Amino acid sequence: MAKPTLIAGLDVGSGKLTCIAAAHDTETNTLKVLAGRSVPCRGIRGGMVSDIRETSAAVTHLLGSIERECNRNIGNLFVGVRGAHLESFSNHGTYNISRMDKEITQDDMDLAVENAKAMPLKNDNEIVNVITQGFSIDKQRGITNPEGMEGSLLEVDVHITTGSSTHMNNLAKAIQRPGYKIDDTFYGLVPLGECVLSQEEKDIGALILDLGGETMSVGIYIDGILKFSRDIPYGCDLITGDLSRVLHTSRANAKEIKEKYGVSFPTFLDEEGEVPVPSLDGRSTHNIKKSYVLDIIQPRVEELIEQVAHCVEASGYKNFPVVGVVTGGGSLMPGITEHCVNILGLKEVRRGIVQRDLITSEDAFFDPQFSTAMSLVIYAAGSGVQEVYGRPTYENNSSLFGKIGKWFKNVDIFGG
Ligand SMILES: Nc1ncnc2c1ncn2[C@@H]1O[C@H](COP(=O)(O)OP(=O)(O)OP(=O)(O)O)[C@@H](O)[C@H]1O
Ligand SMILES: [Mg+2]
Repeated sequence: MAKPTLIAGLDVGSGKLTCIAAAHDTETNTLKVLAGRSVPCRGIRGGMVSDIRETSAAVTHLLGSIERECNRNIGNLFVGVRGAHLESFSNHGTYNISRMDKEITQDDMDLAVENAKAMPLKNDNEIVNVITQGFSIDKQRGITNPEGMEGSLLEVDVHITTGSSTHMNNLAKAIQRPGYKIDDTFYGLVPLGECVLSQEEKDIGALILDLGGETMSVGIYIDGILKFSRDIPYGCDLITGDLSRVLHTSRANAKEIKEKYGVSFPTFLDEEGEVPVPSLDGRSTHNIKKSYVLDIIQPRVEELIEQVAHCVEASGYKNFPVVGVVTGGGSLMPGITEHCVNILGLKEVRRGIVQRDLITSEDAFFDPQFSTAMSLVIYAAGSGVQEVYGRPTYENNSSLFGKIGKWFKNVDIFGG
């Protein structure tokens, strides 16, 4: 029996890297998480590399420790990218089948998608993800897989994410320098939406909000497909900064206060307790009321969710999402879903984690901070990635990102 292969998902977050490694049993097509870890990384700001050396050191530390824990090398590495340099939009492609037999092949589908990708890109931008949203044959819409069907005109709708080549290349360099090969790169919100939202939610119209430290990612699903996605360059670290400044305490202490005692909505202030606040020099501690912490947090959370509301308004899809799902570390703040209901005008908002039936794992890795890394593994494995194992050596002049140039379920990655 073949040894299950090790697939790793690397989430490049703000100021930290998070990795989940899972054994993929290709015979049963099941995934089991073997290790997961987050390490701080001072070389990354808001998902972008600000220092290659620091980032490479963090990658070596993180992936090395994961490999040691699993006692084997990472076979496939999938990277999730974030950042305000990413932009997403929908496009349309057509392809005429001029052959006699008219039977649509995979090549025809690829060519229709190629045509959808043919569009002007901003200077220094490249395509990160292309998701096919559905095909139509001779104007008949709603066909998910036209292979083998007959038709003359094949059309496809795609959702394309583009990003800055400079940032993408810097990130690839930072990961490849220690000798790791990237099998593919995804815009982090794409696998996340697939693994956190239910099909029913996507069908009815859903908004997904990933509340990170320095980034908030917003996705809108309508009729089952991702219509809009955007990264907003602010996140929950702003709350930490507010607490630190107002309470005169270090950022580390402010973060701890936020995560341990913070609530953003008055109804969650169950009892009026006291919160210990260490002084900046760490020599003394004084107590403040919990309600004072709420007073600092609430306006900032409202402001963040209002930013999301502006983004949704600008998307042109304001009236479509019915339900909302919040994920990412910031979703753990009590009261956040209430703000989303009030400010975004959604009927219902829940906290989302990766659906448990998609992967076997101990509970700790279902924590929202691992959601993106988990979804990367699930998404890539579910998409039929097969073995290409053994770690190739880093080549300075190699193409920076591995392009495996095949269809992943509905996804053609990296404009291959
Ligand atoms: N229990 C908690 N309550 C409130 N906030 C929390 C809690 N746990 C984590 N956070 C906050 O969530 C944020 C980090 O979220 P996450 O781990 O999803 O970010 P990231 O992926 O590193 O960042 P980004 O998505 O911006 O790149 C931090 O601001 C952190 O303080
Ligand atoms: Mg994140």
